[in-house]
Amino acid sequence: MCGIVGILGQGPVADRLLDGLKRLEYRGYDSAGICTVHDGEFDRRRAPGKLVNLAAELAAHPLPGTSGIAHTRWATHGAPTVDNAHPHIVGDVVLVHNGIIENFKPLRDELLAEGREFKSQTDTEVVAHLIDRELGKGFKPREAVANVLPRLHGAFALGVMFKSEPDLLIGARLGAPLTVGYGENENYLGSDALALAPLTQRIAYLEEGDWAVITRAAVQVYDRNNDPVKRPIVNSGASGQLMDKGNHRHFMQKEIYEQPVVVAQTLRSYLRPLEEQVALPDMEFDLGSVERVAIVACGTASYVGMIGKYWIEQLARVQVEVDVASEFRYRDPVLTPNMLGIVISQSGETADTLAALRHMKAAGLTTAGIINVPTSSMAREVDLLLPTHAGPEIGVASTKAFTCQLAVMAALAVNLARAKGKLSPEEERDIVHHLQEVPQAMSNALAHDGEIEAMAPKIAAARDVLYLGRGPDYPLALEGALKLKEISYIHAEGYASGEMKHGPIALIDDSVPLIVLAPSGPLFDKTVSNMQEAQARGAQVVLISDADGIAQAGENTIATIEMPKVHPLIAPLVYAVPVQLLAYHVAVFKGTDVDQPRNLAKSVTVE
Ligand code: F6R
Repeated sequence: MCGIVGILGQGPVADRLLDGLKRLEYRGYDSAGICTVHDGEFDRRRAPGKLVNLAAELAAHPLPGTSGIAHTRWATHGAPTVDNAHPHIVGDVVLVHNGIIENFKPLRDELLAEGREFKSQTDTEVVAHLIDRELGKGFKPREAVANVLPRLHGAFALGVMFKSEPDLLIGARLGAPLTVGYGENENYLGSDALALAPLTQRIAYLEEGDWAVITRAAVQVYDRNNDPVKRPIVNSGASGQLMDKGNHRHFMQKEIYEQPVVVAQTLRSYLRPLEEQVALPDMEFDLGSVERVAIVACGTASYVGMIGKYWIEQLARVQVEVDVASEFRYRDPVLTPNMLGIVISQSGETADTLAALRHMKAAGLTTAGIINVPTSSMAREVDLLLPTHAGPEIGVASTKAFTCQLAVMAALAVNLARAKGKLSPEEERDIVHHLQEVPQAMSNALAHDGEIEAMAPKIAAARDVLYLGRGPDYPLALEGALKLKEISYIHAEGYASGEMKHGPIALIDDSVPLIVLAPSGPLFDKTVSNMQEAQARGAQVVLISDADGIAQAGENTIATIEMPKVHPLIAPLVYAVPVQLLAYHVAVFKGTDVDQPRNLAKSVTVE
């Protein structure tokens, strides 16, 4: 994670670097820093915590200079202190880094043995020392970087500048994204196109192992063998506008409220209303030949995968395996011909998911990606891109990306089912109608915001909260628990409702709220039996169901939230809304930082 920006400018760069960092703060906000080269010297400002602290530091002590690099940090090695904040300076070298240098310990030991002193606990400082050591041997800055890069193991992106050459910025990429931006007598480096959007739309994406030598006049990219290569300059299309919250108090709230619109937008590109059919973008393989599916993702996106398993197996009768990406590669999964590999990711940069994608490709699988950021590494590497049209998601807790991913997953399941000959035109038409109902049903669900806000203080007082669901609503229970814990810091777990009695029921007493997700339908009675088993032991139940469900089982609950009556297939999309709102209001009531919860970052580009 962490975000990098570098500018070789024609005028002062500090403000523009700070603006770039604002666009990258989603990648981490443990500390931030900027270093410029001015009158042959480095000048640096750093601050722990969020970017506002660095902005205050810059306001108090402005930073001159027309070239510089900047960084926002998600701490990996070393606490989020000023000393550990980037940029790191060693002699003539200043450096920013995103990712992890896995072999930093032996490198550090080697440097310590030579008498070098470290000012931070970071892995980053090791790289600055290594480059400085090469300079000391008489190598020029470019050669020094070229000599050091092969010694670094891990996944990282680097930005390096030199006191003696203020018109030189070097970027290197291995496993973490990095882009070069082309301006008018200026050039730039950034973790993504968004960071550079106000500076330029002309972007080149570095490829794995690439490093770029940037001056104001020219950019030369080299591959991992140090051979000069050309990487296409594309129009990023990224908006230079900073996102704003509109009338909402937090981005998360805004994004929850955007769901009827963005889900409709996403569905529009997958539904053909006249033909009453679902359609995917053109693809170069035959979906009908798919015999197995592997879905890989992290966190919230992995719950979309779990729901997808229910849908694909039920509709298409194709076997599906779902893995969290951090486990996938290392368990050496059995990947067979005619298997479709699917990755799901909002950012398209999550290191574990990207590594899993590459693993699947190396094993010869055809791959598809349900991805929100169309310029991301995953979007560029999958065989079939299935975009979500959620728009930028700024709140760290994923909300609208989740429901848009579900919408695309539903379209994929239906297409696969048709291609496998398991779905009649009538059945497909029915599903299209149900999917078309989703945006309105989500709006109806949002209308319960006030009731949910009113119950937040009760949940906020709890030490533990449990969520129950069955079938496709079981992964939604996991999502509910994740949402609550990440933004309110209350311990929460989700369970398949039938699993309750196999252990977790021991946790139940009258201080434990139990959030039950139970749309009426074939699984309702069974979920309600499990709920009653918990109620008999004092559980404080919040039942989220439709009018029929609440009429049947709403007694003895502390609260009910009435959802519109929807087909069980689309229930996870609609029931996601109260689950998100509940977490949101509990967090607001507790006064936590909803959009930037502690220890988290929006894009997780380390393993
Ligand atoms: C939770 C959350 C995370 C992400 C996960 C994957 O609210 O946002 O669990 O879902 O880090 O991120 P992407 O989708 O960018 O791969």
